Formats: sequence, C-alpha cells, structure tokens
Amino acid sequence: MEGLKSVADTRKLSNGVEIPCVGYGTWKTPDGEETVRAVVSALQCGYRHIDTAQLYGNEESVGRGIRESGVSRQDIFVTTKLKNTEQGYDSTLKAFEGSLKRLGLEYLDLYLIHWPIPGMYKENWRQVSRDTWKAMERLYEEKLIRAIGLSNFLPHHIENIETSANVQPTVDQLEIHPTFTQKETVRYCQDKGILVEAWSPLGHGSVLENETLKVIGAAHRKSVAQVALRWEFQQGIVPISKSLNPDRMKQNSEIFDFQLTEQEMKAITDLGEEGRTGPDPDNISF
Ligand code: A2P
Repeated sequence: MEGLKSVADTRKLSNGVEIPCVGYGTWKTPDGEETVRAVVSALQCGYRHIDTAQLYGNEESVGRGIRESGVSRQDIFVTTKLKNTEQGYDSTLKAFEGSLKRLGLEYLDLYLIHWPIPGMYKENWRQVSRDTWKAMERLYEEKLIRAIGLSNFLPHHIENIETSANVQPTVDQLEIHPTFTQKETVRYCQDKGILVEAWSPLGHGSVLENETLKVIGAAHRKSVAQVALRWEFQQGIVPISKSLNPDRMKQNSEIFDFQLTEQEMKAITDLGEEGRTGPDPDNISF
C-alpha cells in the first residue's frame, strides 16, 4: 500500500497482472451519452480502471467513452461481467464475444462471473458454475482476457469453483461499505490471494450521513466519502467508486494524502452492520 499515491497506481493480482487501486463503476448509468460522458470524465480525472457488466446494459457507451477519452487502450484496465442468464460453457463463450463486440475491444483485462445464483440454477448451480469457470479458463488461456474472477461469491461458492479449477480466481468483487463489512469473506479471499473489490463502497450513499465518519473526516479535512473509500483501500480492497459528478469523481480520487489510524479503522469496522443494500448471493434469481 505504501507506494500507492493515485487511483492509477496498481496492486498486483495473483497472476502478476497489475490492477489500478481504485476503479470507476458504471452500475445504474444508463446506456447513451450519460455513460459516454461519465467514462470520458473519469479517465480525464485520472481513473484508469473502468468497471461495467453485461447486466448494466451500457457496454457500448463504456466502449465509446474509452475511445473518445483519448487515453490509450493499453493504459486502461477494463472489467466486465458475465450476465446471470448466460452461465454455462457455450453460453459463456458466446456472451464474452458479445461483450467484447459491444465494448469495441480486442481483449479484456478482467472478466467476472457476476453472481453465483443458486436461486436461478437451483440444484444444478454447482455444475453450472464450474462449467462457466471452464469457459472463463479457456478464454484466459486463449489470451482474450488478462485475468478472470468472481463477483458476489461467498466462500462456499468459491470452494465449489476450486474443486475443478485449473486457474485460480484472481478477484472477488463484493458489496462492501462501512456498514456492511463482509469481514469473513474478505479474510477468506485475502488468505487465498484473491484480491477483493468493493462495489457500492458508499453503501449506495447510505453511509454519507454517518456521524462517526463525519467526525473522522473532519479530523483529516476529508469528506465522509473519502473516509469510506480510504477505509476500504487501507484493507487492501479495490473500491469501485461511482459518481456522475466530475467534482465528486475528483474528490473520490483524492484519498492518498491522509492515513486512517488503527483506532479509526477499527471504529469504522465496528460501526455496526446495517446489512446489504443489494441482493443476497444465495437468493438472487435474475
Ligand atoms: P452522484 O453520482 O450524484 O455523485 P455507491 O458507490 O456506494 O453505490 O454510491 C453511489 C452514490 O453516492 C451515488 O448516488 C453518487 O451520486 C453518490 N456519491 C458518490 N461520490 C460521492 C461523494 N464524494 N459525495 C457525495 N455523494 C457521492
């Protein structure tokens, strides 16, 4: 963590690929000019890690934003995710091709299985998940993707993948914020060398009025959002920050000029669990 001084600075995945330490997320940003503008602004602001998903329906605009930004493709780390309804070996290969085409890219930096979804594949979910992973491994071996990983996978979902994996998952992207810490899953992943990313790192905005975070922020002359992102960053987590507002994008990138003390880190971790703002990986069925 020591040498990291900007959102473009990188951590290393277990396969050696470098990943910029703060991502820019596009969930809920509708396809069209808004997404194009947001991606261009984020890249102009210094972000070099753009996160989307087939499910978000905005891959085409993300791709346009990347091209219109003027930043070289090889300097940007692009992630997309396999849509839940496309799991399975052949359908994953096809879905990947579609994502790549919509993004207008020749390769992807990171491809994630979006959800484990036992709720959709019922008693078959374990086999479907493993078949999906096999297809991801093939795409990785064909060098169409630089790293493959998971999203919203809890330890029992990861263990299932590992029973037949030849390539270990490099990433697990989870809902994490100060009032939903996912401590056990974070520890489980980090012990295995799986890099954890945080989606909705501000709890969908729900942590912005938290009094403890306000007090800690005031002590460092930082906003609550910056404190939350820094708390994630100091745990070795890559937050996927999301704002459509260029001033807040910039603010969210300025988390490298202060350090939370051990007591502050603990006070945030101990705020109390308010639970998920999104779906439960064991019950999601879409
Ligand atoms: P906006 O796009 O208007 O900035 P999360 O990433 O946890 O899902 O939270 C996203 C929400 O937090 C968005 O509504 C976003 O709104 C808002 N947000 C992002 N950054 C900040 C910030 N620095 N200060 C206040 N609100 C923010």
